[in-house]
Amino acid sequence: MSKLSFSHSWVLITGASSGLGAEFAKQLGHRGANLILSARSVDKLGRLASDLAKVNGIETRVVVADLATPEGVDQLTADVDRLGVPLLHVINNAGFGSTGAFVTSNAETERRMLRLNAEAIVAVTRHFLPRLIARAEGGFIQVASTAGFQPTPFMATYGATKAFVLSFTLALAEELRGTGVRALGLCPGPVPTGFQQAAGIPASGLLKLSRLEAPEVVDTALGAYEDGRTLVVPGALNSVQTTAVKFLPRALVSRAARLAMRGLGRS
Ligand SMILES: NC(=O)c1ccc[n+]([C@@H]2O[C@H](COP(=O)([O-])OP(=O)(O)OC[C@H]3O[C@@H](n4cnc5c(N)ncnc54)[C@H](OP(=O)(O)O)[C@@H]3O)[C@@H](O)[C@H]2O)c1
Repeated sequence: MSKLSFSHSWVLITGASSGLGAEFAKQLGHRGANLILSARSVDKLGRLASDLAKVNGIETRVVVADLATPEGVDQLTADVDRLGVPLLHVINNAGFGSTGAFVTSNAETERRMLRLNAEAIVAVTRHFLPRLIARAEGGFIQVASTAGFQPTPFMATYGATKAFVLSFTLALAEELRGTGVRALGLCPGPVPTGFQQAAGIPASGLLKLSRLEAPEVVDTALGAYEDGRTLVVPGALNSVQTTAVKFLPRALVSRAARLAMRGLGRS
């Protein structure tokens, strides 16, 4: 895999209005990348885009889209195409979770989660992949989670979407071997962002020992992407946890996960 420089290359970041997405934007802006920032919050995106352009002398564009709907995904890809810029890297980061017993979950929220966390990533990747293969460069950072390594009772749908992203990305990375195009699955553990509030996770519920801050997670992810890796789990404790579950019986891992997550069950 050739050496990678983000300078002057165009990067699309979904979920760029807060948390990990905004941090990707800051660190990539600092490295001289031109940015297409997408999410639903037009004001936040506009502020971030103009701040980053001023500080780093880069070009920025904003594309507002609700990626939990098929129409929103089509709108994103069409708007990005209309910009006419040579897009080289895509960070499929937008996502959310929900907590509680599945039986009491909001059916529409779970459906939107499936569409945003899984379906949108497939559609966006499928749309932009051919042109990257034609150029034999660029690639995708797909944001999964340590939750994708084992079932996550009381976040059942969320964990399943992240297992999907992980499996999809590792398969894609193998298909892309030798094409010059990268695919990295990023699996963060707990990171304090807007995620916890959106998912209904109490601040005290953030696993303190395995918690990392967004700048460290993003820096680790960009380093792994530059190195051409296909999977990265930032943080030593998260690496140990995701490695250990591979060697234990699935039923035992599911039971342990239920105990660890039981505080999130509100039924
Ligand atoms: N924080 C963690 O502990 C953690 C751990 C593992 C994995 N992750 C993953 O990291 C990714 C980023 O999450 P985060 O932690 O940075 O949380 P966050 O601060 O809540 O950011 C989520 C981003 O996704 C966007 N988004 C939400 N719904 C959307 C929709 N329907 N259409 C388009 N964009 C939408 C949000 O923007 P708008 O509201 O403006 O649309 C926001 O920019 C997610 O995929 C999450 O699952 C997070």
